[in-house]
Amino acid sequence: MTALPVDGPFREAVIDLSAVRDNVATLRARIPSQFYLTVVKANAYGHGMVPVARAALAGGATHLGVADIAEALALRAAGISAPILAWLHDPHEDFIAAVSAGITVCVSSVTQLDAVAHAGAAAGLAPEVPPTVHIKIDTGLSRNGAADTMWGALFARAAELEVAGSIAVEGIFSHLSNASVEDDLAQAARFETGVALARDAGLAPTIRHLAASNAALTLPQLSFDMVRVGIATYGISPDDAVAPHDYGLRPVMTLRGRVAAVREVPAGTGVSYDLTYRTSAASRLALVPIGYGEGVPRAASDRGPVSIGGERFTVAGRVAMDQFVVDCGAHAVDVGDEVVLFGDPANGHPSVADWAAATNTIGYEVVTRLGGRLTRTFVGA
Ligand SMILES: Cc1ncc(COP(=O)(O)O)c(C=O)c1O
Repeated sequence: MTALPVDGPFREAVIDLSAVRDNVATLRARIPSQFYLTVVKANAYGHGMVPVARAALAGGATHLGVADIAEALALRAAGISAPILAWLHDPHEDFIAAVSAGITVCVSSVTQLDAVAHAGAAAGLAPEVPPTVHIKIDTGLSRNGAADTMWGALFARAAELEVAGSIAVEGIFSHLSNASVEDDLAQAARFETGVALARDAGLAPTIRHLAASNAALTLPQLSFDMVRVGIATYGISPDDAVAPHDYGLRPVMTLRGRVAAVREVPAGTGVSYDLTYRTSAASRLALVPIGYGEGVPRAASDRGPVSIGGERFTVAGRVAMDQFVVDCGAHAVDVGDEVVLFGDPANGHPSVADWAAATNTIGYEVVTRLGGRLTRTFVGA
């Protein structure tokens, strides 16, 4: 583990890029697919898209994945030349910027296919390098991805455009529900049917991909030619019931701040809005300058775990926009002391999974929602 800076800003998320690199290398070593895509959408799940993308590539990722074309273009603007897939599009998207930047456009409809083919011509791409597409088919999640009733028309049009030299169909993929092993295996069977139908239509996609973190970790037989790994990259388990460490993964983010004020109060003192918390004894109250303005859920009121000086405490009273209070009892605490909301449990800190459990959500949301006035400090580059 890269050591955290001893002194830090008032409120910060420390991102350990060596953990990103190591997690990707660990996952690559255990997953049998030829290609490996790291998902860096939504600012790399709150961790900082460009530095994380670079660290993932250094760890062995061959591809990057995002939802929006704007995210893909931001990666290109930062000088990243690796293959990038983007899979969720504005209905008005013309794809010209995307294909000009060599983004692999994931298409779910004939309309999108035609728009990409048109964009290739409008962007003046040379005929030997038409826009690269991956076809997204729905196999049971009922989100974006062509419904099976549309597969025939989609594959036929893709084959036509490919023969005309307007697009190159490099891949075909789908996304799993993770509802159960049986559900995922049933989706995988539908995926194989879709791939066979695409081949019957004359397509020859060389990159088939289905698994995200959960299946990549637990159902390696679904790895096909590529996996798309998001949450595990960040050292967070896709299943909060399994510790990341059990997969050899290290947490990437430490969310911490510095105590902004300390007060000594008698027993029975009410704390924060609505006075939902009262001290049970004479206590020291520490003020932590992180609130829902930074994305800390208000649901952490009276529940979120924190660590100060190696001791574990719980948020006392309501989380407010800028701050919350911790009842440190008789423990010594000073202005400027470090307060860790979550980090690496190996260092005695609460985990992202602890925060997910305390706030009735999933680890994905705990980290992705963070922002506001937080400084992101990158270490281990
Ligand atoms: C299409 C697609 N693939 C892969 C992922 C990564 O999922 P995970 O973070 O569970 O690995 C996502 C994230 O939601 C996704 O939308």
